[in-house]
Amino acid sequence: MNILVAGGAGYIGSHTVIELIKAGHDVVIVDNLSNSSMIAVKRTEQITGKQIPFYEADIRDREKMETIFSAHKFDCCIHFAGLKAVGESVALPWEYYDNNINGTLVLLDVLRKNGCKNIIFSSSATVYGTPAIVPITEECPKGQCTNPYGQTKSMLEQIMTDMYHADNEWNMVFLRYFNPIGAHSSGIIGESPNGIPNNLMPYITQVAVGKLKELGVFGNDYDTPDGTGVRDYIHVVDLADGHVKALKVIENKGGLAVYNLGTGQGCSVLELVKAFEEANGVKIPYVIKPRRAGDVASCYSDPSKAERELGWKAKYGILDMCRDSWRWQKNNPRGFEE
Ligand code: NAD
Ligand code: WQD
Repeated sequence: MNILVAGGAGYIGSHTVIELIKAGHDVVIVDNLSNSSMIAVKRTEQITGKQIPFYEADIRDREKMETIFSAHKFDCCIHFAGLKAVGESVALPWEYYDNNINGTLVLLDVLRKNGCKNIIFSSSATVYGTPAIVPITEECPKGQCTNPYGQTKSMLEQIMTDMYHADNEWNMVFLRYFNPIGAHSSGIIGESPNGIPNNLMPYITQVAVGKLKELGVFGNDYDTPDGTGVRDYIHVVDLADGHVKALKVIENKGGLAVYNLGTGQGCSVLELVKAFEEANGVKIPYVIKPRRAGDVASCYSDPSKAERELGWKAKYGILDMCRDSWRWQKNNPRGFEE
C-alpha cells in the first residue's frame, strides 16, 4: 500500500515506518518536526536502505497538505501527529486542543476530499481513565480523562466514530497503546524527549547515563504487589508491527475497529528498575517520593482481541525492552540533539 505517515519522524512513527517498509509498503512522511528531528528520518532511511519522501509540514496547514496529496495517491494514513506531554497539556490546553483536534480535523477533511477514507489513529490507554477493570478489554467503558492531552484522544475517537457512522465508506482503526518503551535494535533511533523526561523509562536511562542523579519513584503505597504503580510496557517495535497488522482491517474494508496494543503483563516501577539493572548491569539509584497527581495504581491490557483478529501479539519481553532502551541512550546520550 501507499501510506501517508503523519508524525512519522517521531518515536513511534519512525519505528513504524521501518516495519511498514520491511513489509513491502511505500511510505511518505509528513511531520512539522515540533517534537522530532530530521536526523531520525535520515537514520530511518539508513536502517531501511530506502529514500523516504519527507514533507516538513503542519497537518493544520491545509494548503501544504493539499500539495502533498496532489503529488501522491494514498491508500491509507497512519496518524501519529500530535502533542503528547500530559503535564504540558494542563499548562497549554489551547495549544493541545488546537494541535491535536484541529490538526486531525484538517487531516480527515483532506483525506476524504482526496478519496482516501482509510485511517489508523494513535489512541491511548489514557481513554480508559481510571480503568473499571484490569486487565482492560476494549469493552471496558471509556473513563474520565484527567488532562487535556487525554481528552484530545478521547474526543478524537468520538469525532471519528461519528464521521464513520455518517459515512460508512471510511475504514478506521483506533489503536490504544499502553506504555511504549524500547528502541530499534540498531541503537540509532529511539525516544528523545526534550528536557527532563516525564515518563519512567527515559528517566531511568538518563539516570543510567549519568545525566540525572536518581529516580524518584512516585508512591509506594498503591494497592499493588509492591506498592508502586503497575503498567503494561510494550516494546516500540512490537507496537510498530501492530500498525502493519492493523492494515488488514483497511484491506478487508473492516469499517471501524478498536484494539488495545499491550503485552497483557503488568510491571511495577520497582520491577522495571530491577529488570533494567539485570538486563544492563547498571545500578539505578532511587528514592520514594509522593504519588504523582492523576496517576492510577494499575493499568494493563487484555490484548487478546488484536491476537484473535489481527494475528498480532507482542514478541519482546521486559528485559529486551530494557536492553534496547539502554543501547539507544548509551550510544546517543543527547538523543537526536547534535
Ligand atoms: P512523538 O512526539 O515522538 O511523535 C509525534 C510526531 O508528530 C512528532 O514527530 C511531531 O513533530 C509530530 N507532530 C506533532 N504535531 C504535529 C502537527 N501539527 N503537524 C505535523 N506533525 C506534528 O510522539 P510518539 O511517542 O511517537 O507518539 C505518537 C502518537 O502516539 C501521538 O499521537 C501520541 O499521542 C500517541 N501515543 C503515544 C504514547 C507514548 O507513550 N509515547 C502512548 C499512547 C499514545
Ligand atoms: C509509569 C509509572 C509513574 C516517572 C503516560 C501517559 C499516557 C501515555 C503513556 C500517551 C507510573 C511512575 C514515572 C518517574 C515514577 N501517553 N513514574 N517516576 O503515566 O503510565 O502514562 O505515558 O498517551 O497517557 O499518562 O507513564 O512512564 O509517566 O509512568 O515513579 O519519574 O512510572 O508514577 O506509575 P504513564 P509514565
